[in-house]
Parts: sequence; C-alpha cells; structure tokens
Amino acid sequence: MAKLWYLGHSCFSVTIAGKTFVTDPFITPNPQAAHIDLASVEADCILVSHGHEDHTADLLDLANRTGALVLANFEITNWIERQGYHRVHSMNIGGAFEFEGIYVKMVQAVHSSSLPGGEYGGNPGGFVIHGGGDTIYFAGDTALTRDMELIAEEFVLDAAILPMGDNYTMGPSDSVRAAQLLQCNQVIGMHFDTFEAIQIDHKSVQDMYKAAGISLILPEIGDRIDI
Ligand code: NI
Ligand code: MN
Repeated sequence: MAKLWYLGHSCFSVTIAGKTFVTDPFITPNPQAAHIDLASVEADCILVSHGHEDHTADLLDLANRTGALVLANFEITNWIERQGYHRVHSMNIGGAFEFEGIYVKMVQAVHSSSLPGGEYGGNPGGFVIHGGGDTIYFAGDTALTRDMELIAEEFVLDAAILPMGDNYTMGPSDSVRAAQLLQCNQVIGMHFDTFEAIQIDHKSVQDMYKAAGISLILPEIGDRIDI
C-alpha cells in the first residue's frame, strides 16, 4: 500500500516500500498550506517535475535538512548543484532510475520549464514510481497528451496524480480524458485552488468523474490517503 500525504498544490509525500518521495516542494509560499510545517516533512528522495517556482520554492530547504536525493532533469540538477547541494541525480524524459529498489521513470509532460531567475529549466516531466507492488503516476504540470497511452501500455497504475486547475495545465474535463488514456480508475487531483486562475468547482468536477465511472479524490491540504 502506498501512503500519500497532501502538502498542497503539487506537493505530495508518497511513501512506497518504506521510502518517502516528496514531489515539487512548495509549502512555505502557499498561504493555504500555513498549517503544514515544512520542518515536519521527511524525504528520502525529492522528485522535481520542472523548474517553475510553484514546484521548487522549498526544494533546497527540504533537501538541505533531509539530505534526500533529488531526481530532476539535467538542467535542474545543475542549478541545484550551483546552489551548493550535491546529492542529485539527473535524468531526462524516457529514462528510468532505480532508487533504493524503487523504479522511477521520467515521462513526458507538455508544459514549459524555467528556473527561478528565468534561466532555462530543461523539459518538464512527470514520474512513474513503482515499487513494493504499488505504481503511482505523478503527472507534474501537463496538458492532456496522447503520450499518456504509452504509460498505460507499460504500467498498471494504482493511482494517477493529475493537475486539473486549468489555465496553466489541463482542466477537469481533459483530466478525465487523461485518466481514460492512462486506463486508471483512481485519480488524485493537484494544481487546483492555489491561485485564483486555477480555482475549480469541486462538485461539478466530482460529477464529471462520476459520469465517467472514475474515482476522484480532491484532497484537502494535510489529508493522508492510502492507495
Ligand atoms: Ni509550471
Ligand atoms: Mn505549476
């Protein structure tokens, strides 16, 4: 069983086979996550989908305190090393890496990626985490893309963590189509409600998923979810 803890926006703690992965650390700048203490978040491995500040703001603080291995694309790991943190492993789209017995594959995301300060952040990505009988897809920031069919061909997903706030990423109806391409019946929403431009109507989104026969969790910040 995978254990998830929602820390707001696109930041999740995902514990699989005894190892804790933290995605896209963004807690302290998020007023809605004021009840989450960054110092209470543990990590063995940090996954960074792309360079935008709403995915990297707390990355160095979390890495420096926990000593976690940071997995990200080459441009982002170079940037992290220039900030003085060296426990990084660079990857790129299509590549996989085994972290302490857990398979992590970086997959395509259709978005953009620049680093705080404006420098090029490489290509954006998502991650499939597979270990101990659990398989979770963390999509990062992405549009709906047919490349998601490739994920369904390779993996049987227990859950897909999908952005659905619209405007910067796919919106709710495209996220339903994404779940269908992924052949995944358990979706967990992210990248919604943090900013005005990505607010969603929870009831209409739940109705959309109900009509499609797909289970949706729209977590509250701080929720713990067992998958
Ligand atoms: Ni972004
Ligand atoms: Mn974003």
